[in-house]
Amino acid sequence: MIHAHITAWFLALILFFVAISLFKKGKTKGAKILQMILRVLYLLIIATGAGLLFSVYKIDVWYILKAVVGLWIIGLFEMILGRVANNRRTSTFWIQFVVAWLLVLYLGFVKLPMSFLHP
Ligand code: HEM
Repeated sequence: MIHAHITAWFLALILFFVAISLFKKGKTKGAKILQMILRVLYLLIIATGAGLLFSVYKIDVWYILKAVVGLWIIGLFEMILGRVANNRRTSTFWIQFVVAWLLVLYLGFVKLPMSFLHP
């Protein structure tokens, strides 16, 4: 489950940047297709995340925070892509993006116990 979770968000991260670069190059059609694939990946991220969450014996506040920040990142993926597509400002969302990623990586890899880095 943890590997499926990591694979899903890693793939989403890559496709997100590819979609942004396609939008910027004016290749709207390709970008829109990636945006749809991304939405399927969001569902997979949430499903695997929820699966991990419910495999936990006692869900504490750190787990809740991890889930919330995960959902926040998905929201930011959507917001940033939507705004890039419409040529609107994205700077405040990029700041949130960096903060949210630092938080999620800290919570996922360091704070919470199920790490594939230190099994
Ligand atoms: C783009 C969004 C997300 C990212 C980047 C992300 C990232 C991560 C990372 C880096 C880990 C640690 C993997 C490891 O230690 O090997 C993890 C684990 C986990 N994630 Fe996510 N996640 C996201 C979304 C979600 C969502 C939406 C949920 C809940 C619905 C969720 C729930 C969990 C849970 C429960 C764990 C296990 C934590 C542990 O005990 O170590 N994640 N995630």
